[in-house]
Amino acid sequence: SGCFTFDPGFGATASTKSAITYIDGDAGVLLYRGYPIEQLAEKSSFLEVAYLLLNGELPSKEEFAGFEHAVSHHTMMHESLKHFFRGFHHDAHPMAMLAASVASLSAFYHDNLDVDDPADRKMAAIRLIAKMPTIAAACYRYSIGWPFSYPRNNLEYVERFLHMMFEVPSEPLQLNPVAAKALDLLFILHADHEQNASTSTVRLVGSTGANPYASVAAGITALWGPAHGGANEAVLKMLEEIGSPDNVESAVRRAKDKNDNFRLMGFGHRVYKNFDPRAKIIREMCHKVLAELGVNDPLLEVAMKLEEAALKDEYFVERKLYPNVDFYSGIIYKALRIPTEMFTVMFAIARTAGWIAHWIEQHETPGARIGRPRQLYTGSGVRDYVPVDKR
Ligand code: CMC
Repeated sequence: SGCFTFDPGFGATASTKSAITYIDGDAGVLLYRGYPIEQLAEKSSFLEVAYLLLNGELPSKEEFAGFEHAVSHHTMMHESLKHFFRGFHHDAHPMAMLAASVASLSAFYHDNLDVDDPADRKMAAIRLIAKMPTIAAACYRYSIGWPFSYPRNNLEYVERFLHMMFEVPSEPLQLNPVAAKALDLLFILHADHEQNASTSTVRLVGSTGANPYASVAAGITALWGPAHGGANEAVLKMLEEIGSPDNVESAVRRAKDKNDNFRLMGFGHRVYKNFDPRAKIIREMCHKVLAELGVNDPLLEVAMKLEEAALKDEYFVERKLYPNVDFYSGIIYKALRIPTEMFTVMFAIARTAGWIAHWIEQHETPGARIGRPRQLYTGSGVRDYVPVDKR
């Protein structure tokens, strides 16, 4: 009973008002707080973008210095949290370790957190943005049997992360500024994307009054799936499987075959129907970064050929399927020596800024209600219980 709309997959339902990110899917427009993604990608930094998403305005010099100071002084992982890792098998997927570790943050910062207090919410945002790279690097180092690395507060956000990933005590790590800049840019492009599956999950969990660490951990698990953030890992595996430009035609054929589950990973988007503005930036950047790092990856050729073949194929044209943000990002991550299993973790570090900005916005909105979708029941009508010996 009741009157409501049937909208599977929420293709036509706005679940909330939001002032954070704007997407025009037909025009290929993406704005964070009104600023075009192209301008932010060219001129801003990830940490500045995080501030913008959280606060609604770009920071003054002083405001940014204060934010950076706060973030760089909350980067440490509690020593007890490190024991969690010892319980994981060494080949556990880093996303599994990340989701569990972030959920466990609520065990460390829960008791004195009041979700109705703006200062507490801000503190949680800073903690999450600060600790995510530390936990992410720990996931990687645990998987290869290396000791965890301490965050260096004197480094900038992305440099600090790369340092924690790759440093070994005996040799000072020579950070390549091209690599750091490339990663910073990827983080900017992934920082928010309005009500995508993981952000909607964070909001749904947040709507129950759950703490921000639990809410963001739920976002991480939603991101993991190959239809969402897991696509970047899936794209690279797909490109490796295709292996050579010669096999591109048959991959396209398989992707069109409705009896085959194979999809072109990194292709298609619920909202973008002409192009994904992030993909445009990433494609350009991919060429530039590989050239600057002197990397010659044959997978880039496979990707370009695949894009070209799909874009002139009727199936993809009719359905308005274009490369999305994940199509070229993996080739860049690979050039930065980030292992394939860590790709979605990279996405999670960046999207944490968006997730927590949405969680805060939700708590700042008066009269917000618990998220509680309805259903169309398709099961049996009422019937009487039959004792087991009569069934
Ligand atoms: N390869 C082949 N066919 C596809 C693809 C693809 N990548 N994407 C969509 N289609 C077809 C789909 O089979 C359907 O065909 P038909 O109308 O004949 O049944 C039509 O296009 C519409 O697809 P849909 O699944 O109804 O579209 P959706 O809006 O529900 O899904 C999507 C969007 C992104 C989940 C989907 O395009 C997809 O699975 N893409 C591959 C995974 C991927 O790259 N995901 C990353 C998305 S962007 C970053 C992020 O969100 O993390």
